[in-house]
Amino acid sequence: MQRFDVVVVGAGAAGLFCAGIAGQRGLRVLLLDHAERLAEKIRISGGGRCNFTNRDAGPANFLSENPNFCRSALARYSSQDFIALVQKHGIAFHEKHKGQLFCDESSEQIIQLLLRECELGAVTRWQPCAVQELREAADGFELDTARGPVRAARVVVATGGLSIPKIGASDWGLRLAKRFGHAIVEPRPALVPLTFDPAAWAPFSALSGLSLPVVVGTGSGKAKGRFVEDLLFTHRGLSGPAILQISSFWTEGQPLQIDLAPELDLAALLREAKSGSRRQLGNELAALLPQRLAQAWLERLAIDGGRAMAECRDRDLQQLSEQLQRWQLTPNGSEGWRKAEVMRGGVDTRELSSQTMESKRRPGLYFIGEVVDVTGWLGGYNFQWAWASAAACARAM
Ligand code: FDA
Repeated sequence: MQRFDVVVVGAGAAGLFCAGIAGQRGLRVLLLDHAERLAEKIRISGGGRCNFTNRDAGPANFLSENPNFCRSALARYSSQDFIALVQKHGIAFHEKHKGQLFCDESSEQIIQLLLRECELGAVTRWQPCAVQELREAADGFELDTARGPVRAARVVVATGGLSIPKIGASDWGLRLAKRFGHAIVEPRPALVPLTFDPAAWAPFSALSGLSLPVVVGTGSGKAKGRFVEDLLFTHRGLSGPAILQISSFWTEGQPLQIDLAPELDLAALLREAKSGSRRQLGNELAALLPQRLAQAWLERLAIDGGRAMAECRDRDLQQLSEQLQRWQLTPNGSEGWRKAEVMRGGVDTRELSSQTMESKRRPGLYFIGEVVDVTGWLGGYNFQWAWASAAACARAM
């Protein structure tokens, strides 16, 4: 039977990074993954350019039942640390939007960076290699793998979230955590397009493909989310960064509030346009909003767009403006795991050490990355959590 100091299960962002650091600290590390292709989520991330971190990442950009859990790891391995590593590897990058950093060329460069770090640590990598069983042994753990049994003093679970099952996502890590008595915060698709009842959505389906900046909000109290981003109409519902962001805060039955004309006081602008104007309401509205949106809203509210501005009542203009600036609608669901970028929920952090990611229930067992109940906003935060939790774990072993 082969022996290692550490077996890392899952060679995604967190697993590769953890294995590299642990190996460079002198530990004998085995990294294994059941997927055919290495780090597929990194490869497809950021539209193929990997939004590998966010310059401003901090605890406020993460959701968790235990919001303080991520503080320590993020402070000890910051986005500046990962940026320095990217620079050390000579990878050119640029900032796209709100601190989001992308490779100039390809996400493959981040995979190569992680592989080189693993090489420097002499990490043994088996892929594809499924893990069938994990047993407790006197001096650690014994694992049955597709390449035979292995022993290790420590096991790091880096199996990620449940989104996009066809590229390797599995619930292995969650089931293992449960077996060791860990509570699981209900996993839910997050950073995901939202859908609506087909009949209720019919008036909006003609807007498919339209994108515009909005303010979107949902929830209340601590669970409240609010984002100023672009929204995209689709055939089945809503998508775009605004909706992906708010989807992580949304729970079934809860309405969204959307301002489709942020920074405008539509009612006041339409009232002003009344004085002596021969223009028509439809044209006036289309001067303030995308034309397709203006037209769809007038049709939906059965308002005649050909009506002269001068003939419009203030009350009607007020109502029309409110419909556009305080649009309230309740999704009937989301596009689910097939389309979600991440999983919300996961291994409850109250039974993990925030310093080391080690299980408080079974010493020697660690959970890092997305399998843990720490979910970042859209914008490079999820990779930053993968790097930071991996570093916290690897430096503690
Ligand atoms: P990750 O999913 O990377 O790796 C888990 C690994 O475990 C996989 O390789 C899997 O095959 C393996 N595994 C699972 N079960 C196993 C088992 N039973 N045995 C062996 N191996 C097993 N984030 C971000 O910050 N910026 C971005 O640009 C994007 N873009 C993006 C696009 C898309 C389309 C998706 C789906 C996701 C993103 N993300 C993102 C999210 C980001 O990809 C994600 O949060 C990290 O990859 C999580 O890293 P982990 O290592 O935890 O899981």
